[in-house]
Amino acid sequence: MRRITVVAIGAGDRMNAYTEYARLYPEELEIAAVVEPNPLRREQYASTFGIPVAQAFASWEECLQRPRMADAVFLCTPDPLHYRPALAALEKGYHILLEKPIAQSWEQCSEIASRAAACGRIVGVCHVLRYHPYYRKIKAVLESGVLGEVISVSHRIEIGIERMTHSFVRGLWRKERESNPILLSKACHDLDLIVWLTGRKCRSAESCGSLKWFRACNAPAGSTHRCVDGCAVEQECPYSAVELYYRKKRWLRHFDLEGGEDPDAVIRKELQEGPYGRCVYRCDNDVADNQVAVMQLEGNITVDFSLNGFTREGGRRTRIVCSRGELSGDEKRLAVTAFRKEPEVYDFSDTYGECNFHGGADLHLVADFLKAVRAGSAAHFPARIEEVLESHRIAFEIEKKRKMHDVI
Ligand SMILES: NC(=O)c1ccc[n+]([C@@H]2O[C@H](COP(=O)([O-])OP(=O)(O)OC[C@H]3O[C@@H](n4cnc5c(N)ncnc54)[C@H](O)[C@@H]3O)[C@@H](O)[C@H]2O)c1
Repeated sequence: MRRITVVAIGAGDRMNAYTEYARLYPEELEIAAVVEPNPLRREQYASTFGIPVAQAFASWEECLQRPRMADAVFLCTPDPLHYRPALAALEKGYHILLEKPIAQSWEQCSEIASRAAACGRIVGVCHVLRYHPYYRKIKAVLESGVLGEVISVSHRIEIGIERMTHSFVRGLWRKERESNPILLSKACHDLDLIVWLTGRKCRSAESCGSLKWFRACNAPAGSTHRCVDGCAVEQECPYSAVELYYRKKRWLRHFDLEGGEDPDAVIRKELQEGPYGRCVYRCDNDVADNQVAVMQLEGNITVDFSLNGFTREGGRRTRIVCSRGELSGDEKRLAVTAFRKEPEVYDFSDTYGECNFHGGADLHLVADFLKAVRAGSAAHFPARIEEVLESHRIAFEIEKKRKMHDVI
């Protein structure tokens, strides 16, 4: 089996998850170079994978100016840094494993897809849930025909208040211009699942939703700019940064704690000075905190979809009703009921959550991408860009509808 070499661009959370594959299977994947502007992360990553200093870059421009140095790039930069590096990498002849969302507009997404086709390169998009055992089971049940024809899909994503405030109020995905609408940055997986599971494109859609809660007008009396500024309601506030990061020590993934400093001191500094210490009612966020959509797919399949940030736990719930039965599940448990038969229940609690690399899905996706690169063909790679463009098209269209209603 030929070993595939890769340039790792953006050595953050997701890159570390995907390139764990190189640590587990070094005979299949070698990391030839890294691009990461954060010196701490760059050095740590280079040392983990034995990357020489000359192959560790601070900017993608510098790296992609050089002659091609690997078979592929893994592109795991923040959302606004997908489009230009992707085009530059294709220009140099790299295949790409590209984090979702593909880019920040439908035009950019289509351009990457058409350039990839023109250069004969593979672009795989990290829709990892297509590889998750729970969703694969749903897909297999629907394809088996045991439930008949799909009539209607009901799907909801509950983000959970911790992830909502960490990512979409205080953090990296809080502003549309610096990332994407929440529908893209969080729910493009969900729209992709709907398209993939039904095998149908979308014919029409409506949507409404807004940034209802995390705004200054809802700040409680006595609250302050930062949770550590003597906020009078910190002890009872469900969104307290002190509670989340300092007392519970959760969601510290963007704090760079491994720099040799006392972790508590790093967290205290962040709460005093950094974006994660801000009061949730006084951030510069603009992405919605709740949204619903209804869609009609080809074949008159109806879909109702909802997203919100106000549940204690995060998770996804799906119910699909068909002409001869129904299925419903919450990612931990899947019940499949053919009418006139007893329900069959499958337990997926072992693979639940993002720990364990999305139930192993991250690593399966990488394995499949490497196979496609080795074969020089994405024909058998389910998350190739041509396949996943539809979910991005839907997301951009739905978002237009939401904005129309929000303005009205
Ligand atoms: N597939 C999924 O399930 C999933 C989950 C979370 C995030 N994402 C997406 O993955 C991407 C990365 O997210 P993350 O959670 O790993 O974020 P992250 O912040 O942990 O990692 C991004 C890295 O890119 C680096 N970076 C910034 N500017 C750069 C530049 N000019 N060149 C190279 N690197 C640069 C940052 O310093 C950081 O280390 C985003 O597009 C995000 O929306 C996908």
